[in-house]
Amino acid sequence: MLIKKSLKNLMLVFLVIIYSCERDQPVFGENGMVVSTSSQASQVGIDIMKAGGNAIDATAAVGFALAVTSSSNGNIGGGGFMTVKLENGNSFTLDYREMAPKAASRNMYLDRDGNVIKGKSRYTHFAAGVPGSVDGLLKAWRDYGSGNISREQLLDPAINLAENGFKLSKYEAERFNKNKDRLSKHPETKKIFTRDDRKWKEGDLFVQKDLANTLKRISKNGRDGFYKGETADLIVKEMESVGGWINYNDLDNYVSKYRDPVKGSFMGYDILSMGPPSSGGLLVIHMLNMLEKVVEQKGSEFDLSYNSVDYIHTLTELERRAYADRTEHMGDSDFWNVPQSMFLSRDYAKNRLQDIDFNKATSSKSVDHGNPYASQSEETTHYSIVDKKGNAVSVTTTINAGYGNGITVTGAGFILNNEMDDFSSKPGEPNMFGLLGNEANAIEPMKRPLSSMTPTIVLKDDAPFLILGSPGGSTIITTVMQNILNVILHDMNIKDAVSSPRVHSQWLPDMIFHEKNGLKNSTVYKLKKMGHDIRMRSSIGEANGIMINEKGFWGGADSRGENTAIGY
Ligand code: GLY
Repeated sequence: MLIKKSLKNLMLVFLVIIYSCERDQPVFGENGMVVSTSSQASQVGIDIMKAGGNAIDATAAVGFALAVTSSSNGNIGGGGFMTVKLENGNSFTLDYREMAPKAASRNMYLDRDGNVIKGKSRYTHFAAGVPGSVDGLLKAWRDYGSGNISREQLLDPAINLAENGFKLSKYEAERFNKNKDRLSKHPETKKIFTRDDRKWKEGDLFVQKDLANTLKRISKNGRDGFYKGETADLIVKEMESVGGWINYNDLDNYVSKYRDPVKGSFMGYDILSMGPPSSGGLLVIHMLNMLEKVVEQKGSEFDLSYNSVDYIHTLTELERRAYADRTEHMGDSDFWNVPQSMFLSRDYAKNRLQDIDFNKATSSKSVDHGNPYASQSEETTHYSIVDKKGNAVSVTTTINAGYGNGITVTGAGFILNNEMDDFSSKPGEPNMFGLLGNEANAIEPMKRPLSSMTPTIVLKDDAPFLILGSPGGSTIITTVMQNILNVILHDMNIKDAVSSPRVHSQWLPDMIFHEKNGLKNSTVYKLKKMGHDIRMRSSIGEANGIMINEKGFWGGADSRGENTAIGY
């Protein structure tokens, strides 16, 4: 009896070990791969590809599905960026970032004394920019979809999930419970996302009838199902409760834009990423240019192994300089002349290295922004998709903070973004990610707030090799950079690359942040001795990546949070 019981226990331990090992491995697919924060949404993308759609069709369908299954960040009330490499070799990015409404003005978040009114750019109706997701997702599908998937087919899975409900995972149930206070502030949000009788629990059926009806209007009327007609009426009515903010013209005038990707290279690999109004692509390329120079200059005398003292010190010094430049020079390039060639220049990268002491921390106070040459929420989500023909799509999408501004459009069932907080409310005043901004990112009507979202594709011999991105506000940029380095410099597989502990720094605050188990005690001690201030913090980013090699597609879902890679 005792032996039988011991054998049973042993078997159980064995199964748990096998399961954990499998969970720690990349997921393989020969015909396609979707990695997103929601198992239902990843499955929707796979189903669309199985039905004859390509990666762009899948991208749009996953975007709508996430709006249902991942209420804190998946969205139709927000916006995003998409970086795409097509099977024919062409590439593009699509900017469907929110735009400031016409009523926006530079000092709108300041009181009469010029002080920032606490919370106004974050938790009020005035925090919302005009949403761009519906316009962007439908535009990409219309222009680059396979032609095999109708608009109704794109929207059907999302409608079904909203109308008939889906079972909450433990993670989603806990996230609702953890945010109950915040979700209870607006009556419509409270009605949908909280329960009076008890806490949410795993397995509860979560039904969203109003959201289903909004999605049906989009399915029937396309863009007009959101920016005109009943949905527009509901948004404008919601805004009238505060005397108006987003109006019919703002909705009608919203436009997503194709933009050229920013391009760089690192150790023989090419990098395609998102340019302004994102700061991410330019900063990642600029920092990798600097790092490549360091490798050239320092060679083998330097220990650049994963999370070594030299490595963390070097990254921190690069980040300090790059984020100082972000503050001064970056904003929406439709409104501000962002010195892109400066950020992409290898000479500039080399010059920026000159005052780095490789044995001692520089104080951020002594680091100013560089000058261009004369010619010149923490809650976001990322998904990566590739199809069997090799079309590769990298999408980061956001409503900024978790659950955006917390305000659900009454009758329409979706939460609005609080992206206006990504503008600089006032020079020297940090936004919710501690990021500063100046003139370049000042508020103007119809302008897009500066973002850190960095949907990226790394190419090997001009073909997609890595598809990467992450949520995490200001930490997105350093997360994407570390993911690239984890693969190219540290030889990790994609699962390890996205899941390994990360560090982050950003000029100001003058501090290195690291995750639990991210740095050895001896490394922390040595970095402190070099003059760095170091603090442990909660998780940094949630990256979802795909690696592509001659065998097929390898999905890496970040072990932080609840991410799912599905291949077929
Ligand atoms: N809302 C975060 C970002 O766009 O950077």
